[in-house]
Amino acid sequence: MKLLMAANWKMHKTLSEAGKTARELVSLTESVLPRDREVLLIPPFTCLDTVSRELTGHSGFGLGAQNFYPAEQGAFTGEISPEMLKDAGCSTALVGHSERRHVLGEQDDFLAHKVHFGLDQGLNIILCIGETLDQRKDGQLAEVLNLQLNTALTGLQAADLDNRLSIAYEPVWAIGTGEVAKTGDIAQAHALIRDRLTDLFGPLGQRIRILYGGSVKPENTSEIISIDNVEGVLVGGAGLHAESFSRIVLAEHQ
Ligand code: PGA
Repeated sequence: MKLLMAANWKMHKTLSEAGKTARELVSLTESVLPRDREVLLIPPFTCLDTVSRELTGHSGFGLGAQNFYPAEQGAFTGEISPEMLKDAGCSTALVGHSERRHVLGEQDDFLAHKVHFGLDQGLNIILCIGETLDQRKDGQLAEVLNLQLNTALTGLQAADLDNRLSIAYEPVWAIGTGEVAKTGDIAQAHALIRDRLTDLFGPLGQRIRILYGGSVKPENTSEIISIDNVEGVLVGGAGLHAESFSRIVLAEHQ
């Protein structure tokens, strides 16, 4: 299974900044990209086409979207459909990022609909899940992760997934805070997720990638990607600059 090294640029970058960062990243990493890695850039909607052009023809580099609305088309002011994203060059989209859940108020049922709809429409999906600090302190880690996974994934057929679903474990308290989960905490959460995926999908559950996200930096990536059941990272702040993200992309597996 290849490691997926993904950078979510959130609401950052103009067209020229995005094009420049993508270009620099390719030039820093393409010739030395380990065979076991894939890179995914997730810019804001306005920059998708520009970044797509920069990545075209460079193998190992893909384009993702931060969000979509679960409808083919219609009167949904401000929203974007999976078809539009594919047309702009995206293979993949995030669903359930903590900022969509906690800032924009998206609930598990709606997120489940998005996962199913996005897969039906031909997008690969990275489903983001994770507990808040209060939930962790209250000992609800397993309950929260199981609920988020069950709600979003029940009803999907293993045979339809075919390497198209990844899970990103992102403890809410570690996102953008500089506070990284401890190795043991990451291992514990990823093992819980792996068990649930195996319950839901049988042997295929072993082959669904589980990424870690939350204050990933060049300095901690080697340690994180060497933990059992970690098959990549989803990076915010340190993914904004080609120099730091290139060090994450190329971090050694210990
Ligand atoms: P961060 O963001 O790397 O800035 O903590 C992670 C994320 O939001 O996916």
